[in-house]
Amino acid sequence: MGYLSRRELHTLMRKRQNLAGIVQATWDYAGRGPYASLRAVQRITEITALAQLVQQTNPKVIVEIGTNQGGTLFIWVRTNPMLEMVVSIDLPGGQFGGGYDARRIRQYREFAVDRPHTCMDFLRVDSHAASSVNALMQVLGNRTIDFLFIDGDHTYQGVKMDFEMYSPLVRKGGLIAFHDIVTCGSGCEVNRFWNDIKSVSRHEEFMEGPQSNMGIGVLYV
Ligand SMILES: C[S@@+](CC[C@H](N)C(=O)[O-])C[C@H]1O[C@@H](n2cnc3c(N)ncnc32)[C@H](O)[C@@H]1O
Repeated sequence: MGYLSRRELHTLMRKRQNLAGIVQATWDYAGRGPYASLRAVQRITEITALAQLVQQTNPKVIVEIGTNQGGTLFIWVRTNPMLEMVVSIDLPGGQFGGGYDARRIRQYREFAVDRPHTCMDFLRVDSHAASSVNALMQVLGNRTIDFLFIDGDHTYQGVKMDFEMYSPLVRKGGLIAFHDIVTCGSGCEVNRFWNDIKSVSRHEEFMEGPQSNMGIGVLYV
């Protein structure tokens, strides 16, 4: 990772200690070349509400399907200082964002540079392959997931498969969040799956307002 991008990232990590500041940092960061942006593909009030909820549960293990430019990964790591493990699953060239270049892993590892107890793993694979679930299970060992963030393939079948394949790994009392529960066009069908699934357990929705075209749905497992 280039010197200027690393310096910019470390300055933000040092200066932004509270949750709102950490979320805002993903918008404010300006790196260079392949490390140019960390911007979360989110509405700021929605991701802030989710990050607050996740933080209150004091998670030890977080798994994110769909990382792209690293914005949400940064938020999970920086707002949870006691995190023991975070795993990013993202398909290079995947739909709805395109994944991330292998070089970005160096940048993402910097998020936990001051947290030797936080282990980061990167699975650049199709979340729908059985081998990907097996790879995750290997990384997890005997741990269960405290918080699962589903923000990968946004088609109906895609989000359904992510839920069905990964939710059994979430502990009882854990959280599963889905991004884009409001129709957002161009093949995004999370809203349909969310409407099918949300009544299975206690749930909550975060929406910036009636104008929001994203929205986050949370299931309490
Ligand atoms: C909207 S982006 C994630 C945004 C990120 N969570 C954020 O808020 O900053 C969606 C990501 O899902 C990935 N993706 C799409 N289909 C996938 C699949 N089948 N397996 C793994 N990742 C996938 C894409 O490569 C893309 O990087």
